[in-house]
Amino acid sequence: MLLEGKVAVVTGGGRGIGRAIAKRFSAEGAAVLIASRTEAELRNVAREIELARGRSAWLKADVSREADCVRIISAAEDRLGAVNILVNNAGDYGPVKPVEEISPEEWDRVISVHLRGAFLLTRLVLPGMYQRKSGAILNISSLSAKAAYPWGSPYTAAKAGMLGLTRVTAAEAARRGVRVNAICPGPVTETKMSLDLGNALAARLRISPEIQPQQFLEGILQGRGQTADEIAAAAAFLASDQASAITGQSLNVDGGAAFY
Ligand SMILES: NC(=O)c1ccc[n+]([C@@H]2O[C@H](COP(=O)([O-])OP(=O)(O)OC[C@H]3O[C@@H](n4cnc5c(N)ncnc54)[C@H](OP(=O)(O)O)[C@@H]3O)[C@@H](O)[C@H]2O)c1
Repeated sequence: MLLEGKVAVVTGGGRGIGRAIAKRFSAEGAAVLIASRTEAELRNVAREIELARGRSAWLKADVSREADCVRIISAAEDRLGAVNILVNNAGDYGPVKPVEEISPEEWDRVISVHLRGAFLLTRLVLPGMYQRKSGAILNISSLSAKAAYPWGSPYTAAKAGMLGLTRVTAAEAARRGVRVNAICPGPVTETKMSLDLGNALAARLRISPEIQPQQFLEGILQGRGQTADEIAAAAAFLASDQASAITGQSLNVDGGAAFY
């Protein structure tokens, strides 16, 4: 198993990509703490892990709040042990509007969930990882960080910021035993965020929500979206010792959509 004996924190682990990552990590031998704002979803995923004989814990928390991030890491340490792996996955798309229609409050909220949340949790886990001279941090960025799509400037700025955070943290941590990488998924069409976004884009483009993703997916080499499980498989690899020489990278898991 790739992650035997490891303790992982996966934010946004209540559904979608985070749920798939939590379940995959557990199947690979990790004990996993999942955190998000919806208790019922967290309970469900924890039960799924338990039924598969895995070890997990959950915590209701908002990653944009510093105090909640402190609670996430303390809960993981108290209930599961020292944190070996952090996956900054929590987030939503935010306003589907042009730049000039986005309020400063909307901008700040999206940046604070994706980028500030990743920063807050990273700064909390690093001292322990440095002490143990080992650890892996994964930031779930997006194809949006590498492409130009209209109507999501705070999301794209946050995701591009996460790539900068990934590289600088990797530079600081590389000789202290800690690896920091990012994954840039393409469209994972099964998730709530993706479905909500598809509906909002279809409304803006005045096309049906069924046609909207098809047009987008045709521009990808594989001609399809990715599954949450495909993102989770890449996450398990990058978090594992199999990726021991990989740090500071952003891995596109996008079926061939971006090429840098
Ligand atoms: N789906 C895609 O096509 C796609 C593509 C590229 C990147 N991504 C990225 O992948 C990640 C997961 O997205 P997804 O598609 O799996 O969406 P999703 O199914 O909507 O899941 C998002 C998760 O993040 C949690 N979350 C949102 N805001 C939070 C907050 N402030 N504090 C704590 N948890 C929060 C949500 O739970 P609560 O709402 O209950 O808090 C949920 O568990 C996101 O970072 C997204 O940007 C997705």
